[in-house]
Amino acid sequence: MTAIKKQPIPSLSPIDHLLDLAAEDMQAVDAIIVERMQSSVGMIPDLADHLVSAGGKRLRPLLTIASAHLCEYEGIGHHKLAAAVEFIHSATLLHDDVVDISDKRRGKKTANLIWGNAPSILVGDFLFARAFNLMVETGSMGALEILSTASSVIAEGEVQQLAALRDIDMSVETYLEIIGAKTAALFAAAAEVSPVLANVSTKKRNALRTYGQELGIAFQLVDDSLDYGGFELSLGKSVGDDFREGKMTLPVILAYANALKTKDEIAAIFWRRVITEHNQRDIDLDNAITLLQKTNALNDSLDAARTHSDLAIAALKPFKASPWKSALTELAAFVVNRVH
Ligand code: IPE
Ligand code: IPE
Ligand code: MG
Ligand code: MG
Repeated sequence: MTAIKKQPIPSLSPIDHLLDLAAEDMQAVDAIIVERMQSSVGMIPDLADHLVSAGGKRLRPLLTIASAHLCEYEGIGHHKLAAAVEFIHSATLLHDDVVDISDKRRGKKTANLIWGNAPSILVGDFLFARAFNLMVETGSMGALEILSTASSVIAEGEVQQLAALRDIDMSVETYLEIIGAKTAALFAAAAEVSPVLANVSTKKRNALRTYGQELGIAFQLVDDSLDYGGFELSLGKSVGDDFREGKMTLPVILAYANALKTKDEIAAIFWRRVITEHNQRDIDLDNAITLLQKTNALNDSLDAARTHSDLAIAALKPFKASPWKSALTELAAFVVNRVH
């Protein structure tokens, strides 16, 4: 009897397809995550479990696993590194929700809302530290270098964004620099550590790094558009957070540029009032969405995301065809069509 070849189920999203392909690896990764978030200090596992058990897409560890397979890695170091990557991501989410005063994450109340800011920050620090334990255990100085650099770049991105809050004159270039740091750096590192473990050519290593970087930028561009056009239920976090904070993201940068270019004084005054002066009324989020749609700013932001997703796909060229390469290609295409 011929073996039944496992075919991807068409109705699965590319993320589910990748999770399916990587099921065995991800079981090992999840076991490491659960084991390493334990502590005799009860608040740590309680708070960490609140976030971890809510799931999340597991995109970044999936990148580490998929890259390991693309590079035909045969060891088990990628499991610890994938867990470390998810720990770094979880730590940044705990910190980010404090900074953004967010009340919803992964469809649940945020840890800062339940436990408060101080426990969220401290448990975030614990998860960061656990990530570094895991990296050291793999014995790969290369991986340690990549992920430690990414961690400092993420923090820089978050601080740069904080310093630029309510800066209506932010350039597209500065915005791309910020999202390249706060989000894409971890995607890039997640994809780059496995080729380093597998000791493949620099060309393949750089290709995967570029894939991760471009995917991360596309991902954040979509996330920033969904903040004005997404549905809270599928997103699992509150929409309009960026607007309420006065955070400059590409849709607002483009809409404000349009107001200046077309000499639409009313729109320009609106953006300066809600962003620079941070003087907002209840209906202003709706007004902002109307302006973003009228000026095509949301569509243009999604077009920019598509450009970066295409660059991610193009970066995979050095790899021969395989189910993993197809899954990563589909993932990059999907990220710009996602709704959560
Ligand atoms: C949220 O990332 C933070 C951003 C970079 C926008 P994800 O959307 O990947 O979060 P989870 O892990 O799936 O919850
Ligand atoms: C996500 O940033 C946090 C990091 C990338 C460190 P955002 O603040 O833009 O993302 P959400 O919307 O809270 O997930
Ligand atoms: Mg933030
Ligand atoms: Mg946030």
